[in-house]
Amino acid sequence: MQTVESIKALRTLRRQWRDQGKRVGFVPTMGNLHEGHLELVKKTVETCDVVIASIFVNPLQFGQNEDLATYPRTLEEDKKKLSAQGADLLFLPTVEEMYPRGLEQQTFVEVPGISSIICGASRPGHFRGVATVVCKLFNMVQPDSAFFGEKDYQQLQVIRLMAQDLSMDIDIQGVPTQRATDGLALSSRNGYLNDEQRKLAPLLYKTMQDVAESIRQGDKNLMQLSKSAVEKLSQCGFKPDYVEIRNGETLQAAASDDNHLVILAAAYLGTTRLIDNLEVLR
Ligand code: PAJ
Repeated sequence: MQTVESIKALRTLRRQWRDQGKRVGFVPTMGNLHEGHLELVKKTVETCDVVIASIFVNPLQFGQNEDLATYPRTLEEDKKKLSAQGADLLFLPTVEEMYPRGLEQQTFVEVPGISSIICGASRPGHFRGVATVVCKLFNMVQPDSAFFGEKDYQQLQVIRLMAQDLSMDIDIQGVPTQRATDGLALSSRNGYLNDEQRKLAPLLYKTMQDVAESIRQGDKNLMQLSKSAVEKLSQCGFKPDYVEIRNGETLQAAASDDNHLVILAAAYLGTTRLIDNLEVLR
């Protein structure tokens, strides 16, 4: 696997692959790779001729009081994992390469509506930072397909809308959430949890599964189901941010006859913010 830091070097390689008629797949990440990320790479290897991954901890998508400075950086291990999984190229831009005019001067990509609800309401500016960096990465890599985890359900919807609205000729693929054996969704932020918190953490998914089961059993009082889930999480030691039951495509409030729903939850254990989601078809 080759590693390049400059956009120029990336473009030279990209041009060669285009001339050879290769189908290029892309997996953007912020590093500290786990089996969730590697599943995206695996799916890309299966469906594309060339696999490009990127690692870039994007300052634009972190809020003032968030974990930009402490975000885990494990480059050497990440390189080995990507290479073992069959990636061809790692793009590793610096902040200066990505934002040469500085963060303040940057042109932004906004996907209104969806970016200001749920996680977007708790993290103002987050999805603007995500959409902007993913748009820039797409312009640099020019992939045929790009792979994103369903773990970040709202992020995936934001990117799908951006690609559609800006007429990007990129096939956006969602990959199912990879979990630890106890159900906890794999996340780079799980490493922040102490032993006690790590034992509690799977209760987030368990609570969502219980909500899903109630919906499937015919419970239509979605507001009450969310409220009870929040209360349950609080009692177990979480500080819940939200548990929302939404339309699975638009992420707007679910109508009583919607048959594709998604339960989205975010909750703190100590200072660590965990998110998860679960789709429900009824
Ligand atoms: P990061 O959190 O590193 O995640 C990179 C990709 O891996 C995202 O598409 C995310 O949804 C996916 N992923 C993470 N955990 C997963 C899991 N347990 N199962 C399946 N997929 C999982 O998401 C970002 O980085 C950034 O916002 C980024 C898109 C790179 C833009 O900066």
